[in-house]
Amino acid sequence: MKTIKILAIVGSLRRDSFNRQLALEAKEVIGSRAIFKLLEYQDIPLLNQDIEYPAPESVKRVRDEVKSADGIWFFTPEYNHFFTGVLKNLIDWLSRPISDEEPQILAGKPAAISGISPNMGGTGLAQDHLVTLISFLDMDVMNVPRLTIPNAMEQIDNQGKLTLKSSYPYLERQADAFISFLQGRL
Ligand SMILES: Cc1cc2nc3c(=O)[nH]c(=O)nc-3n(C[C@H](O)[C@H](O)[C@H](O)COP(=O)(O)O)c2cc1C
Repeated sequence: MKTIKILAIVGSLRRDSFNRQLALEAKEVIGSRAIFKLLEYQDIPLLNQDIEYPAPESVKRVRDEVKSADGIWFFTPEYNHFFTGVLKNLIDWLSRPISDEEPQILAGKPAAISGISPNMGGTGLAQDHLVTLISFLDMDVMNVPRLTIPNAMEQIDNQGKLTLKSSYPYLERQADAFISFLQGRL
């Protein structure tokens, strides 16, 4: 049987990002059921159509990683009730056709969404906006379940480390659901 490849895209470049830590926790929960990799994309430039073709090497690299993944799992922070600018910039790059022969690579790609924030909304609003965007780009979104983790500080220790407590079963549930979602599409 083919090994599933999941690519995690974290919408925060912050070193100790809660969402990055959540993605690393998801990697543990997925375990041997899939290859799970975090996309590193801090080196991609701001999209400027003057530099779009030929695409910068960093953009080619992230496109290759996205292309070879069976599914994308987004971990999004919430900034001003929206997802972050760095994530929008990345998705804008990915949304563009590579050439006249090769269309954009997000269409049809399965996607899951999670997020954690210190506030009460738990990134729900950011996730709704992200769904609007990636649905427009024709991604195959797993809308149920999504994972929204509010009040992050209740699950962060005094070293800033995420120690999931009450949310852990929900992460497990989403991981199980995404594996089934992907298996149904192989
Ligand atoms: C510009 C800005 C706007 C923010 N707006 C929100 C918001 O609308 N809702 C929310 O829950 N948290 C908001 N926050 C707090 C973030 O949730 C918090 O900084 C979080 O740690 C970011 O995710 P990260 O830890 O993965 O980097 C905001 C933070 C910044 C820097």
